[in-house]
Amino acid sequence: MSLEKVIDKKKNDLSKLIDKKKIPEHVAIIMDGNGRWATKKGLPRTFGHNKGVTVLKEIIKSSKKLGCKVLTVYAFSTENWSRPKKEVEFLINLFGEVLRNEIEEIHQESIKIKFIGDLTPFPDSLKTVLNRSEDLTKDNEDFALNVCVNYGGRQEIVKVAKKLAIKSISGEIKPNEVNEELFNSELLTQGIKDPELLIRTSGEKRISNFLLWQLAYSEIYISEVLWPDFNENEFLKAIIDYQSRNRRFGGIESLPNKSFKGSYCSS
Ligand code: IPE
Ligand code: IPE
Ligand code: MG
Repeated sequence: MSLEKVIDKKKNDLSKLIDKKKIPEHVAIIMDGNGRWATKKGLPRTFGHNKGVTVLKEIIKSSKKLGCKVLTVYAFSTENWSRPKKEVEFLINLFGEVLRNEIEEIHQESIKIKFIGDLTPFPDSLKTVLNRSEDLTKDNEDFALNVCVNYGGRQEIVKVAKKLAIKSISGEIKPNEVNEELFNSELLTQGIKDPELLIRTSGEKRISNFLLWQLAYSEIYISEVLWPDFNENEFLKAIIDYQSRNRRFGGIESLPNKSFKGSYCSS
């Protein structure tokens, strides 16, 4: 029977199909489709963003319950500034409002929150909330939530290249010491293991400048469901699909518990 048929038969209890020994430690999500969801209902796009927050809360709980350790979500890309000013302002206000309302619970749940991206263009009031939230939760160990805001993969890579060039000119490093490990250690995600699984909702089949370096060997799962309709069941479908993959990392054997470390670790 095909995986789709098995999933369809068990749709009321997908958790029974999960292999507890093959839970991805780090899942990344491109939460897409908020605007289309609202438009389909004849509502302003902002309603989709509000509903998207409720879904994110559910998925944080589901992934933590399942045994994942890290969830990284794309909330605002460097390209999203090109949206109408009103929508951008709405999203920026929404980040602050959600954090103010939820940070206590996030902390009680022992979740460490981190914002990945260039925060400089944000209003000071938002920067303060983001920094305080990171500070409050920095010692939490049960689960890590990374929220990518004003994040762009290419910009991140260019910044690392610049930093290493400066270090090299000042003599702190030698040019031939630049390798994947050193590069990795200068990324905004330094210290965070690469995602084993990337989920994108709304059926779009592109990366949209998300974690270009970090997704080098991630499994990709595209869900046709728009983010505001995504839920625990849809998340479990992604995990079940992930568990059916053969992760070969360029070799010929399936190595489900290996993680891609790049050529610097290949020996
Ligand atoms: C994702 O939903 C949320 C953000 C990019 C902030 P969209 O707003 O991109 O929704 P669609 O893709 O236009 O439907
Ligand atoms: C990607 O979605 C960014 C976020 C989810 C924050 P977009 O809706 O901005 O991506 P494109 O425009 O479809 O590539
Ligand atoms: Mg979109």
